[in-house]
Amino acid sequence: MAAEGDKLWGGRFVGSTDPILEILNSSIAIDQRLADVDIQASVAYAKALEKASILTKPELEKILSGLEKISEEVSKGVFVLNKSDEDIHTAIERRLKELIGDAAGKLHTGRSRNDQVVTDLKLFMKSSISVVSTHLLQLIKTLVERAAIEIDVILPGYTHLQKAQPIRWSQFLLSHAVALTRDSERLGEIKKRVNILPLGSGALAGNPLDIDRELLRSELDFASITLNSMDAISDRDYVVEFLFVATLLMTHLSRLAEDLIIYSTSEFGLVTLSDAFTTGSSLMPQKKNPDSLELIRGKAGRVLGRLVSIITVLKALPSTYNKDLQEDKEAVFDVVDTVTAVLQVATGVISTLQISKENMEKALTPEMLATDLALYLVRKGMPFRQAHTAVGKAVHLAETKGITINNLTLEDLKSISPLFASDVSQVFNVINSVEQYTALGGTAKSSVTTQIEQLRELLKKLKEQA
Ligand code: ARG
Repeated sequence: MAAEGDKLWGGRFVGSTDPILEILNSSIAIDQRLADVDIQASVAYAKALEKASILTKPELEKILSGLEKISEEVSKGVFVLNKSDEDIHTAIERRLKELIGDAAGKLHTGRSRNDQVVTDLKLFMKSSISVVSTHLLQLIKTLVERAAIEIDVILPGYTHLQKAQPIRWSQFLLSHAVALTRDSERLGEIKKRVNILPLGSGALAGNPLDIDRELLRSELDFASITLNSMDAISDRDYVVEFLFVATLLMTHLSRLAEDLIIYSTSEFGLVTLSDAFTTGSSLMPQKKNPDSLELIRGKAGRVLGRLVSIITVLKALPSTYNKDLQEDKEAVFDVVDTVTAVLQVATGVISTLQISKENMEKALTPEMLATDLALYLVRKGMPFRQAHTAVGKAVHLAETKGITINNLTLEDLKSISPLFASDVSQVFNVINSVEQYTALGGTAKSSVTTQIEQLRELLKKLKEQA
């Protein structure tokens, strides 16, 4: 158990902390990941203390060289944590004292772990969001470029998971890419709110030493400075926003995964995943399971759980810092790691899966062209409602005759509407079908090509903000 004197707050305590509370209270196992950014923030704070004449130049030099030594230890993996280190802030201050003596005790002047920990977390999130954004853009690019290559492939499009209308395979790929561009935009928007410096807010009331927060801002490369000290140390909106954006991103990836799981079944047989992204069964030798996609779908649930847990922690908190807030980092770290891994796996799956053009073609049944048959009548002047009913009758007639709709004779069709003529045979052609959808956003080749061009342009913009 930690001696009370080792604690940053031990002075007023006579009795020792309950050992189980000590374990529950300790966050070092999680927040040691903030070591680098904690040192970075301390370097800036020490400089500001010197400017405010709290530290002499020699004391500043001592502190900076001590922090540099600790930074080296961290990067070499030889920074030793003590059992008594409650969190990473305690550990670094303890080590600084071991290295430079009592001058270390001046570093925390006017600072609180409350403003320190949010500064650290924001620094961590600034770089993590960039990493996530970069992997996300790579996935979008993979979808877009695959769409460009396979633009001539046509397969059934589904609604209610029932065959609906023929579409280009590229239209399917791009539908997912477009959803992901919104996630990328949202990540960029959160960055604005993460990029506001809280350091200099103290425990809650602000900083009593007239610390130069502008100096802190420029040293730590934040875009602006928080407006109110009480808000600054209690604000976790950016954590919730990040977890929400990550949840929505994971939801999109989960839906993509679900589509591909279905398409990869032998019943559909539209795509085959590469061996690198599948696993086998220990019992059934023939199995090739889409574990990569199932994991993506499962991890979406995990990320949603993190969002729910943090927003629940926040909902009834009194103002400013309460220890409940310590839960934030585990959620952020876990979501950053999960999303980073999932995005790379998704990119791997998309870039290596094989499509079966043959099965896609086979799956395109004549009934999927029923809408086109109605449009044929519309083009001959029939109101759409009547055309819909007429083609419904044709579908029924084909069913009663036990044939597909394209095998009805012209006489059969004429018995339903005199507007049917010999040119009706052109309707039963999937290329003609998809090529009707030339309006922006549609599945005609010209429209899909426009989408690809627009997405390539958008990707350039998104890259700049990543
Ligand atoms: N480990 C704490 C956290 O992560 C640091 C802040 C502690 N502040 C306090 N007033 N006890 O939230």
